[in-house]
Amino acid sequence: MNVKQLAAEKAVEYVQDGMKVGLGTGSTAYWAIRKLGERVSEGLKITAVATSQASEDQARELGIPLVNFSEVDSLDLTIDGADELDGSLQLIKGGGGALLREKIVAMGSTRMIVVADESKAVKTLGQFPLPVEIVPFAWEWTVADLIKLGCEAELRRSGDELYKTDNGNYIADCRFGAIDSAAELALSLQRIPGVVEHGLFIGIADMAVIGKTDGTIEIIEGDSNL
Ligand code: 5RP
Repeated sequence: MNVKQLAAEKAVEYVQDGMKVGLGTGSTAYWAIRKLGERVSEGLKITAVATSQASEDQARELGIPLVNFSEVDSLDLTIDGADELDGSLQLIKGGGGALLREKIVAMGSTRMIVVADESKAVKTLGQFPLPVEIVPFAWEWTVADLIKLGCEAELRRSGDELYKTDNGNYIADCRFGAIDSAAELALSLQRIPGVVEHGLFIGIADMAVIGKTDGTIEIIEGDSNL
């Protein structure tokens, strides 16, 4: 049973004719894009924007009509994965390095549906290191500022090189441990000048579709006890 596929395909049921759709990034979003491609080939009429080069390439290959940001001023629905989600639909995102584009697209959407397998659902965020996108200029100072917030921070690598996002920035993976107030931490991160964006998504997701290994699907809207 591919639980990521299970969740992703359920979420795609919420896509209707005429919608402008945001395409997420990662191995769960992959299945959503694949299903959307299938529905488009069967006649579904949508337009889409992608949150990464990888998702854009996949969508193009599947014949999903892509538009530029100059052609649309908002989206109806974004479907994207998450690295962690809690019962208030607060998320950690950015494991795939696309958090900045993902946040721009999700915040420009009327609705965001998170798709995930059950391992991503947690009581308290923070076991997954929080990805923070930072500019390369003076990254040493930015990382020092992140550490002052109480985490262990490490620049992400890709082989022997430092990992670069689609926007040419670095990612600092920050181990905070349990994050008691995601909102407070988000404010502190935003105050650091070298931080472009962080992977805390608070008050952005409207619904989570969670695939379980027993083959069932849990849908969360609003607060729930995970
Ligand atoms: C990419 C992301 C992904 O949505 C997140 O990493 C989840 O990925 P996956 O579905 O592969 O587990 O935030 O930046």
